[in-house]
Order: sequence, then C-alpha cells, then structure tokens
Amino acid sequence: MKFFIDTANFDEIKEAHAWGILSGVTTNPSLVAKEANISFHDRLREIAELVDGSVSGEVISLDAEGMIKEGLELAAIHPNITVKLPMTPEGLKACKFFSEKGIKTNVTLIFSANQALMAARSGATYVSPFLGRLDDIGHNGVELISTIADIFTIHDIKTEIIAASIRHPQHITEAALAGAHISTTPFKVLKQLFNHPLTDKGIEGFLADWSKREGQ
Ligand code: E4P
Repeated sequence: MKFFIDTANFDEIKEAHAWGILSGVTTNPSLVAKEANISFHDRLREIAELVDGSVSGEVISLDAEGMIKEGLELAAIHPNITVKLPMTPEGLKACKFFSEKGIKTNVTLIFSANQALMAARSGATYVSPFLGRLDDIGHNGVELISTIADIFTIHDIKTEIIAASIRHPQHITEAALAGAHISTTPFKVLKQLFNHPLTDKGIEGFLADWSKREGQ
C-alpha cells in the first residue's frame, strides 16, 4: 500500500515528502478552506511540482458541465493533477469524459461497494471509500475496503482503491491488509505511525551507553 497525504498544507506536505514515503496528495474543499489566503490553483501547482505522484484537486460544481470546465482547468495546471469528482450521476458523466481524454480521476465520497464498482466502470483511476465517516455511523469502513478489493480482483478492475477518512494508525494497517492500494492520511496520523515506546526507549539506552564510553 502506498502513502498519500490528505492535506492542502504545504509545510505538512514538505515534511512528509522529506521522509521519502509520499506517493501522492489529496485535497478537498474543506482542507483548502482551512489554508488562509491561498490561491487553490497556485497551491496545487506548488504541490505537484514537489511531489512526484498524483495530486487530487476537487471540483465544486454539481453539474457535469461545470465539473468538466473546472476539471480541465485543474488538469492544465500540471500533469500530476488528478481531478477529484463526487460520486453522483453528474460526477460519473464527468469521470467518463476525463477518462476518455486520458485525464486521471479520483471519485470521492464512496460509501458502498456498488458506488465503487460504478465509478470504476465509468473509468475512474481511483476510488476513495471513506473509512472514518463510515465508522462514525456505526458501519465498518475497513470491511468496505475489503469488499471493494475482492470485487476489483474478481473482475480484474484496474481502478486503485484509496482508503480515505483515516482517523488513526490502526486504520492504516487494516486498510493495507484489506487490499487498499493507497491510504490518504492526515499529517497528524502519519506522524503517529513513527511512535513506539520501545523505539524511544532503545534510542535512550543507546545514547546512555554511548555517553559512558571510556576515552571519548
Ligand atoms: C479524501 O480524499 C478526503 O479528503 C478525506 O480523506 C476526508 O476525510 P475526513 O472524513 O477526515 O474529512
């Protein structure tokens, strides 16, 4: 499973990129709105020039025509841009359009296996099932990833599954085991993946022993 980061914050993206783990970035209108005084297009360009991988920029129109217009503008920013579209009939019309043009798409707000299958059949490069938001209403987000992964394997579907709405480190392990190709994770959770008390204790012990060396 590859790591994407789910943020529009450039400092967070730079830091995660420096760790060498980053294969892409996803943004959404809420994440962009959290960044004060930025031009959406400029920020996407900045990210795409740094990260060598898919960078999702989401459209806000609700009709296919508007989505296509916005998506074409986004795709013109950089070849790494992936047009993020909502899982609606209009979103899939736009998905079909972009797929025929060879422009990458990420169909977002996926909450069922049938939605994922439809998005894949309309040519989506990626589908984004939202784990955390499903867990929030008492459903099992990881189970959905596993079902989608099975369906895509049985039917030899090449669309990649992005496990989205990740809330904690356990989601990452479970999504990887369930067959997600990618997880898109907030910076806070990515940082938590480093944490293990035995790692800290080990470093402490090595440094303590080192400082006791004779003739240093
Ligand atoms: C996916 O691409 C979305 O940006 C995202 O993961 C939403 O997650 P949330 O439920 O934390 O808002």
